[in-house]
Amino acid sequence: MKHLTILLTLLMSCGIFSQKRPVLIPMPHSLEWRTGQFELTAKTDLLYEGDLENEARYLADILNQATGFEMEPQKEGKENKNPILLKIDPTIEENKEAYQLKVTTEKVTLIGASPTGVFRGIQTLLQLLPPAIYGKQKSEESWKIPVVSITDKPQFQWRGMLLDCSRHFMEKDFVKRYIDLLAYHKMNTLHWHITEDQGWRIEIKKYPKLTEVGAWRTEKDGTRYGGFYTQEEIKEIVQYAVDRHINVVPEIELPGHSQAALAAYPEYSCTGGPFEVETEWGVFREIYCAGNDGTFEFLENILTEVIELFPSPYIHIGGDEVPKYRWEQCAKCQKRMKDEKLHDTHELQSYFIKRIEKFLAANHKRLIGWDEILEGGLAEGAIVQSWRGMNGAIEAIKTGHPAIVSPTSHAYFDYDLKSIDLEKVYSFDPIPKEADEEQKALIWGGECNMWSERAPQELVDSKVFPRILAMTEVLWTYPMARDYEQFYQRVQRHYPRLKVMGVQYGFETMPVHLEHYFQPDGSAELRLNAGTPELKLCYTLDGTTPNEQSKIYRIPIEPKDSCFVKVQAYKEGKTYGEVFEQAYEPHQVLGKQADLLTTYSSHYTGGGDKALVNGLRGSTDFRDGNWQGYQYDDLVVVFDLRDQELNFSEVSVGFYQYNNSWIFLPKMLMVEVSQDGKNFKQIAHVDNEISPKQRGKFLHELQAKFSPQSANYLRVTAKNIQYCPDWHEAAGSKAWLFVDEILVK
Ligand code: ACM
Ligand code: ZN
Repeated sequence: MKHLTILLTLLMSCGIFSQKRPVLIPMPHSLEWRTGQFELTAKTDLLYEGDLENEARYLADILNQATGFEMEPQKEGKENKNPILLKIDPTIEENKEAYQLKVTTEKVTLIGASPTGVFRGIQTLLQLLPPAIYGKQKSEESWKIPVVSITDKPQFQWRGMLLDCSRHFMEKDFVKRYIDLLAYHKMNTLHWHITEDQGWRIEIKKYPKLTEVGAWRTEKDGTRYGGFYTQEEIKEIVQYAVDRHINVVPEIELPGHSQAALAAYPEYSCTGGPFEVETEWGVFREIYCAGNDGTFEFLENILTEVIELFPSPYIHIGGDEVPKYRWEQCAKCQKRMKDEKLHDTHELQSYFIKRIEKFLAANHKRLIGWDEILEGGLAEGAIVQSWRGMNGAIEAIKTGHPAIVSPTSHAYFDYDLKSIDLEKVYSFDPIPKEADEEQKALIWGGECNMWSERAPQELVDSKVFPRILAMTEVLWTYPMARDYEQFYQRVQRHYPRLKVMGVQYGFETMPVHLEHYFQPDGSAELRLNAGTPELKLCYTLDGTTPNEQSKIYRIPIEPKDSCFVKVQAYKEGKTYGEVFEQAYEPHQVLGKQADLLTTYSSHYTGGGDKALVNGLRGSTDFRDGNWQGYQYDDLVVVFDLRDQELNFSEVSVGFYQYNNSWIFLPKMLMVEVSQDGKNFKQIAHVDNEISPKQRGKFLHELQAKFSPQSANYLRVTAKNIQYCPDWHEAAGSKAWLFVDEILVK
């Protein structure tokens, strides 16, 4: 098979198939190429039957702009020579988004199961034309469409992207541009995240302070940052999306992520405030008071205006990341729990969501919430959006509730390529393994989430593209055998289209992956793998910035001492991606057996059981793959040193603090030794002197020094602080301890 592919590739590159066929993303379900072409000319008629004026107009506008023709859609017009004909035939498929597209040398016929089906088919037609078809200016191309027959429909009914316009405000025209980009790629849902701790972005007439106060924050340098959408602007955006068969689902966060609203109306908090619109990123403890009926009146009034603005049958109410600290301290919340016989604050959260769900249902809207809405009992008609892995979806579908999946493992496009690259997204399976046939049908689809803490508007393209191409193919086509290589080649050919669309797309993968091996003699070997085969890797080991004159990577690096590897990838003579950096520090227990007596998180493995003795040091990016995370638990590691003649007088352990993400340095580090592996004697104890309050992301090593030891066993313990402290925004939540290396010297 591989040889056949190579042969075909060779033949194509020799020009034997002189006209390269267009590539389609997402790939249609069935497609048959034939020979010949249809040519679009100034004389081509655009005809439509039935209720398709909007779709015909949409197509004409795109075609006319790029071709300079003056096509006027005609309803049930006479068929002249070489027309494009749009029709509806509900009998072709039950699925409303289905379409059939038949191109002959004489005629293009596009039949949709509904206007939406026709609209999706129009996107296929556009992808069959040269990339310049998306241009805003007239282009001198010959507008040929290859003869083809396509039958197509989506696998999943929910194909969405979340756009967070709260952490960073995004302009109205930018949002409309994304609606176009979603439409071009057959996505059908814009999940619009417009309320947050850091900014309230939707005008609510009854509560003007929500935008007067809540839409603006004072940054640390004193500047004011913010913005919001007026109701008129929202109507414009929603109509723009309706015209493009995209459903806009607004997300109004409650009961958490609501500090901006509470800055404007502190009376609906537990303490009464005052609060500021938040400027840090994270999870914050100021949430709506669940004991105050006024809170529900306030939220219902807001939702009443939201319901008016959005035709979506669904309203997203957030529900994620709700620290219960305030509720536990609040007399009103405690009284509510007593009156309603609620056993804990999870049940209080469930009470909150259920009350909102009833209100929405009475107004003919269905509630969607993040998977935390399962805690304490799921509201009757709720739809669950699973983000902390797939477990939320599994739990929802087992009880007959629909689920939308957007797990952090594959669908968080704010994450960097180290954790989620194009291939990873392409491997995503929205259907949990454990689902039976009935439950599978409850997986409505998925979303990619573009959170904007680290992505102001100008960076969004580079994070969303090209990864969304993989997501749309997973959700529309759901290819059974994922042939990444073939998809990758189509992506390369899709880039010219993205360029004409003005998309500032990013990279497909990290240019460099570093692999670490222990050789039989215990020495280490570092291997650099290029993200794609065509990349050239140039590197240095002394921390200087590499350039094209630096050493070219060919054979594994065998570092004898500490070093700082820096690698720059090059593609066709141009730098590809940023410089890859990895600090490496060998020590006496490098590669030795380390028994971990507590369990590290499956999300932060640091590379597995040997992560703490592999010499690879963590950076200030806690998702760099070198950090091992322990939530609530201590770190306890025992080294069996019996077969080594080791004399050591120091144990240093690398830790990390970023309290916004609940990661704290340990309370203390303890070192013990033993001869029998049972009775341990403490030889050093180091208290951490750095305050958990210290902000920012930083590394810190705790160093224990003692008289030289030559024990059979060594035990290293670092005490987790266990809970976010009382002053912390997420007070009471389980704290993280992050470790990268245990260095014995
Ligand atoms: C989420 O990422 N907090 C839904
Ligand atoms: Zn309260």
